[in-house]
Amino acid sequence: MGKLDGKVAIVTGSTSGMGRDSAKLFAAEGAKVVVTGRNEERAKAVVDDIKSEGNEAIYVIADMGNVDDIKKIFDTTIEEYGTVDILFNNAGILSTTPLLEMTKEEWDEVFDVDVYAALYLTQLVAPIMKEKGKGSIINTCSIASFAGHFGFVGYISSKHAIAGLTKSIAFELGPEIRCNGIAPGAIHTAMVDGIGGVDALQMMIQASPVKRVGQGEDIAALALFLASDESEFVDGQIIRCDGGLEC
Ligand SMILES: NC(=O)c1ccc[n+]([C@@H]2O[C@H](COP(=O)([O-])OP(=O)(O)OC[C@H]3O[C@@H](n4cnc5c(N)ncnc54)[C@H](OP(=O)(O)O)[C@@H]3O)[C@@H](O)[C@H]2O)c1
Repeated sequence: MGKLDGKVAIVTGSTSGMGRDSAKLFAAEGAKVVVTGRNEERAKAVVDDIKSEGNEAIYVIADMGNVDDIKKIFDTTIEEYGTVDILFNNAGILSTTPLLEMTKEEWDEVFDVDVYAALYLTQLVAPIMKEKGKGSIINTCSIASFAGHFGFVGYISSKHAIAGLTKSIAFELGPEIRCNGIAPGAIHTAMVDGIGGVDALQMMIQASPVKRVGQGEDIAALALFLASDESEFVDGQIIRCDGGLEC
């Protein structure tokens, strides 16, 4: 028996990285999974992979910066599976533009994808979860949700914002809906490869007690716990998954 048997889960940003690993684990634990992202080739590969294991998934191609696309994720989920029990708001983009060079256009793009998309999808799924009396929403935050740093003003601001959104969802949509955030540390995904790969993270890795980079599976395991009934008394938390970086 799987931990998510009979559940329907939307996982945004699941064409690669920790979202892909979470989608695969959710499906292996019995959920019907909606895979989303902009890249159709990778979305199809994730769904094919899930189906090859005898599990269930569909994909919806959607840009999280586009409200019509976000609505399409919800509409397709209801058309195909009739309900939704788990929403994992995981899609995110990095911004490394220094503060004095930040433009309104880039700021809006980061906040649209990293924050507003999570709010809007939450607004769409909430009535169904409320009616069912149960639902779990998980938001991908970051260790950048807790501290400042040079050079990442858009990303750090957006990740602080999604931590606040997580707590607001818990308060405003409980008791039926629980909402928690995951704060990954250095996780080896395409996002990290885009800023120099694991080598660029060596200082962070060596500063952590576990002395290794995280993998998508590390985040998927925590996401599964938060999605499942095992975490029924966990709500409104931003949980670090960073190899003990701040312990
Ligand atoms: N890796 C880390 O060390 C780390 C640390 C802390 C937090 N995070 C957060 O973890 C989350 C997942 O990132 P990752 O590390 O797994 O990186 P990744 O492998 O690059 O995955 C990012 C995912 O987000 C999707 N995405 C990006 N922009 C999108 C858009 N405009 N519309 C739709 N989908 C979009 C991508 O899909 P498409 O390319 O198909 O659109 C992809 O599936 C992000 O929220 C990120 O901020 C990562």
